[in-house]
Amino acid sequence: MAGVTDRARAAERGRAGTAAGDPPQRVEAVRLSGLRLRWPGAAADCLAIDDFRLGAGERVFLRGPSGSGKSSLLSLIGGVVTPQAGEVAVAGQVLDALSAAARDRFRADHVGFVFQLFNLLPWLSARDNILLACRFSPVRRARLAAAGRTLAQEAERLAARLDLDVGLLSRPAAQLSVGQQQRVAAARALIGRPGLVVADEPTSALDADRQQAFLDLLLEECRAVGAALLFVSHDGRLARHFDRVVDLGSINRALAAAGDA
Ligand SMILES: Nc1ncnc2c1ncn2[C@@H]1O[C@H](COP(=O)(O)OP(=O)(O)OP(=O)(O)O)[C@@H](O)[C@H]1O
Ligand SMILES: [Mg+2]
Repeated sequence: MAGVTDRARAAERGRAGTAAGDPPQRVEAVRLSGLRLRWPGAAADCLAIDDFRLGAGERVFLRGPSGSGKSSLLSLIGGVVTPQAGEVAVAGQVLDALSAAARDRFRADHVGFVFQLFNLLPWLSARDNILLACRFSPVRRARLAAAGRTLAQEAERLAARLDLDVGLLSRPAAQLSVGQQQRVAAARALIGRPGLVVADEPTSALDADRQQAFLDLLLEECRAVGAALLFVSHDGRLARHFDRVVDLGSINRALAAAGDA
């Protein structure tokens, strides 16, 4: 165990700017180079990306047809899967240089994920689902303390911003509507101010008014703390709110190769 911890510490020291456990502002939020991902048993690569960068604080709208690899790309950025070749760096930290446990910790501290299928724990209350993100991350707790906010205050502030009634916060996630669960998932991603927020189809279950409120909150929270935002959606109407639109097909050579075959 000590070996793993030592390796994680050494890797952490190798990362640019670790003084307060936080990445410096100007390090790129994401850098992918020479990346290749093939899922086990698949006949062809899912992703082949030579170079992709997401700047610190940059907001990018990522789009592409269903099955083109958007969620797979986000899993790589989250360090949930590892590529066959190439490098994924988040806030200057090369994920492959970390042990699996250190990768999990790094993600908990620095990346807020809104998953396509939410990944809430159904038996936990909405409030406890939101707070879960901080329970596993002393760094997120420290950021909130530095901002002069308690965990409970911040959970309620984000819930209110997302139009989630305070009464709903005590209900088990399984008893919430799909749109309510999606908003709980967003509050969980944002709490504790991660430097990178990754959102996979986060507005698909929301009505038009809530969609706008949700996007406003996501953009505002990211702007307030200088967080980068990588936002996947099929809804092209939302693209105008972002600094840049990226078509996965334009950066993923695997799709071009599949088209040629
Ligand atoms: N865990 C996995 N194991 C094996 N294959 C997978 C896995 N996840 C995704 N794939 C495959 O990778 C390809 C891309 O899937 P992915 O979920 O990344 O697409 P997507 O662009 O997010 O699609 P959608 O818009 O429908 O969410 C698909 O062919 C899919 O079958
Ligand atoms: Mg997907």
